[in-house]
Amino acid sequence: MVIMVTEPAISVRGLRVGYISDSGLTTVLRNVTIDIPSNKITGIAGESGSGKSTLASAIMKFINPPMLVESGSIIVDGKYDVLSMDNEQVNEIRGKLISFVPQAAQNSLNPIRKVKEIFFDVLKSRGMDYYSNINVIYRALEDVGFSDKQVLDMYPFQLSGGMRQRVVIAVSLILDPRIVIMDEPTTGLDVVVQHEILKLIKRLQKEKSLSLLIISHDIAMLFQISDYIAVMYGGQVLEYGSYETLLEDAYNPYTYLLLHSVPTITSRGKKLPRIPGDFEGFGRYPKGCVFSSRCPFATDTCREVPPEKVSYDQYGFYICSRYPEWKKEVKKIYE
Ligand SMILES: Nc1ncnc2c1ncn2[C@@H]1O[C@H](COP(=O)(O)OP(=O)(O)O)[C@@H](O)[C@H]1O
Ligand code: SF4
Ligand SMILES: [Mg+2]
Repeated sequence: MVIMVTEPAISVRGLRVGYISDSGLTTVLRNVTIDIPSNKITGIAGESGSGKSTLASAIMKFINPPMLVESGSIIVDGKYDVLSMDNEQVNEIRGKLISFVPQAAQNSLNPIRKVKEIFFDVLKSRGMDYYSNINVIYRALEDVGFSDKQVLDMYPFQLSGGMRQRVVIAVSLILDPRIVIMDEPTTGLDVVVQHEILKLIKRLQKEKSLSLLIISHDIAMLFQISDYIAVMYGGQVLEYGSYETLLEDAYNPYTYLLLHSVPTITSRGKKLPRIPGDFEGFGRYPKGCVFSSRCPFATDTCREVPPEKVSYDQYGFYICSRYPEWKKEVKKIYE
């Protein structure tokens, strides 16, 4: 069998990011190593506070004091060693090669700037002129589903949440990037609008062959659009694999619990698993597996010895020392 090995869009190796406070250095991302495939949609799932946005900020080199990168490397498009580049160099690829839609971007649009002024500002910051690029702007608006150019003369408060999100996505695509990171792109939108934005994201990925990284606390939503899914907990990626693999056979109990704690039509009448307890916070980890204080399948060994990462193809891996034994216990507890 010939295994196709493609250059990842983003390669993260041994990334540690922390923040300094009066009590010293607290590590938020702990040794994150992951390859994000090109021309695919990768979802990053995990409860609030698991480190998803910190990972996105690190990839964009937006880590500023009191946060700091302790160690690791991030290679974008096989050649840009982001953490070794200075801000000016990174600015050259931001927006052009890799673009970022931050969490709640649709709510942080400047309320006193019309949509056209938002485009104007973005282009000006890149030394580009609004009027000579007006056709590029029209195309970006069409790309995200605005048939009417009148939106350019509107203020953000005159737009619905969904329209604001479309504007934000259009702005992120204006310089034709090949890699786009979207942090919680559907959070705060109602279900119908969420569905429309997901359809849009999927269409844009296909039409433009984008490498997309979509971050969300909502794993069920990510399963609707992602080709690959990374599951984060306590600043680590506990599992990463294709949509099919995770759906059929999660290797890590946290993935299983996240997925099965969401009600579905087929789960009606069944006892849904719940993830017990809360994340205890950064800097207060168990000695062994980061999830052992909440994992229903944890043993004393889990609590004492950190599990090794097990890779199973170019992208897929999991961190759990009790796979597949824990699967037998699922049946006893939940079925
Ligand atoms: N600027 C900051 N100062 C202090 N702590 C921070 C800062 N940014 C993030 N953190 C810490 O990192 C954790 C992870 O945050 P974040 O990456 O935003 O998680 P997520 O996006 O998964 O909700 C937070 O719970 C917080 O403890
Ligand atoms: S190593 Fe143990 S505690 Fe960690 S996820 Fe696996 S079974 Fe649970
Ligand atoms: Mg976040």
